[in-house]
Order: sequence, then C-alpha cells, then structure tokens
Amino acid sequence: MARVVVARELPRAAMERLEGRFELEVNRGAAWSKAELMARLAEAEGLICQLTQQVDAEVLNAGPKLRVVANVAVGFDNIDVAAATSRGIAVTNTPGVLDETTADFTWALLLAVARRVVEGDRLVREGKWKGWDLMLLLGADVHGKTLGILGLGRIGRRVARRARGFAMRVLYNDAVRAPAEVERELGVEWAEREQLLRESDFVTLHVPLLPETRHLMGARELALMKPTAYLINASRGPVVDEAALAEALARKQIAGAALDVFEREPEVHPKLVGLPNVVLAPHIASASVETRTRMAVMAAENVVAVLEGRRSPNLVNAEVWEKTVARGS
Ligand code: DGY
Repeated sequence: MARVVVARELPRAAMERLEGRFELEVNRGAAWSKAELMARLAEAEGLICQLTQQVDAEVLNAGPKLRVVANVAVGFDNIDVAAATSRGIAVTNTPGVLDETTADFTWALLLAVARRVVEGDRLVREGKWKGWDLMLLLGADVHGKTLGILGLGRIGRRVARRARGFAMRVLYNDAVRAPAEVERELGVEWAEREQLLRESDFVTLHVPLLPETRHLMGARELALMKPTAYLINASRGPVVDEAALAEALARKQIAGAALDVFEREPEVHPKLVGLPNVVLAPHIASASVETRTRMAVMAAENVVAVLEGRRSPNLVNAEVWEKTVARGS
C-alpha cells in the first residue's frame, strides 16, 4: 500500500476517498513545522498539503519516493514546482471549484468597506451607538459606479457577472484580452491598466502571483487611483505593496481597502491594523463549507488518480506525467 502524508486533516468526505486505499499519516493537531513535515516524508509516495506548508526543494528531497504533491488550493505559490518537475513529482491543485465562492467573498469585501459594515459592527458592540443619525458612518454607493478588474480569469469573470446586479460599468485589464463575445456576454470593457486605475471607483485584483504580478499595485499605481476609490484584494498578498498601501490609506490618497490576503501571512503590516478605512480578513475567500469540502475532495482524488496510474485533470506540471507513467505507477 502506498503511503500518503496528509499534512492537515481534511473533511470527512475527502478522508473517505483515501482510507482503505493508502497507508495514511494524518496530522490531526497543530500545523507541522518544516522539520516535522520532512521527518514524515521518508517513505511517502503522496503528500496532501495546504497553502501554509512551504514545499520547497529541501522538503521534496526529504521524500525520495514522492510521486505526487496535492495542494488543497488553486494557487500553488507555496510549492517549488520546478523542483518537483525535475524530480518527476506531479503537483496538483484545485481549480474551478472555488470560483463562485471567491467571487461572492470579493463582493462581501467590497460592500463591507464601501458601506463601513465593520466599523458599524464595532460601534454597536462597544456600546457607543447613540441612535439613528443622519451623518452616521456615511459610506460610498456601489450601484452605478465603475468597477475595475485586474485579471479576468475564472474568478475575475464571476466578479464581473455579479456587477450587473449593481448596474456598474466594468473595466478590465489582463495579460490577454478576452474574446469579443466574452466581453459582450459579461458586459465588460477592455482598458489599459492606467486608464482602469484612473477611472475605477473600485479596483479588484484577480491575478495569480507571478514574478510579473508581484507588487502590481505599488505606490505609483495607488497614486493613479481616485481619492474616493477603494482597492479590493482576494488574490495573493504580494500582488500589493503592503507598505505603500498602508501609506496611501493613512494619507487618504485612496478612500479604503479590503484585503483577504497579505504579503507575509499571517502577519499584517502594523500600520494597516490601526487604520479604520481598511477591512482585514484572514484569507477566507473560499471558506464556505461546501467549497472547502469540494477542494479537499478534489485534492484527495488527485492523489488517488496519480498513485493509481491515472492522469489527474488538475496537474500543474503536466510535463511530468510521462515520467510518472514510465516509473510504473
Ligand atoms: C487558493 O485556493 O489558492 C485560495 O487562496 C485559498 O482558497
């Protein structure tokens, strides 16, 4: 029986896909350190891990028999894919199953910051609310405004679709322009990045973390935004220069921000924590019971497929497939 290490316990439906098929080592406690994870990989053929596990070349090398690393996430910037590929280790992710849920949460962030929901909650809980007041916690309207989407992939498109209900003009920019029929169907207009930043009332980020998207939003880009505009980030923390954003918010260069992701999670730039015009969430955009279960089941099925010699549809490094088959899985 192949040995599979599950670095954090998964929902029951996912565990059921693995039990009886593999010899399992499951972490049911606090997150393992890198050394603790490495110590468990000596005999493992499969590893199921989450975004907080850094799976670098050193970790991979601790598992000489590893054939698959399955991330329970669509992003895989925690895994050294090049190192895995050079070892012939398949890397899989969980695309598709979290797009709607993440788009829902993007709107939760946008509405929360525009309409000052968190500040209102705090006021009520702290017993400081004195009753209805014409000028209390005035926010910004969302309907009829301009939404700028950077990254019109699976999640960006779903965010765009939801903007229809708010009668918004939607601008987008991406490395590749979408086909005209997609633009028509979504009701979105292509804009150069600078134009998008200058004209949008809400800028929302949906790009993967790549060398070219690191600090995509820095001091220069933030300075192009309107002083009444808001920045929403549910993609990856390092896409935004957090220090530059904290500075822009403190100086009221933009109206506010809502962030689900941070440059050095779980650390948050100390200046952001003290600012009222920023909503901070702990990387939970895909965190509905249904979606997190679907992600875990998908990761388990990815491992089953590879270890049973079937090609997983969610291979990040498809080029290793021939090698995996050639090793006689
Ligand atoms: C992902 O899947 O990459 C998200 O950041 C967590 O759901």
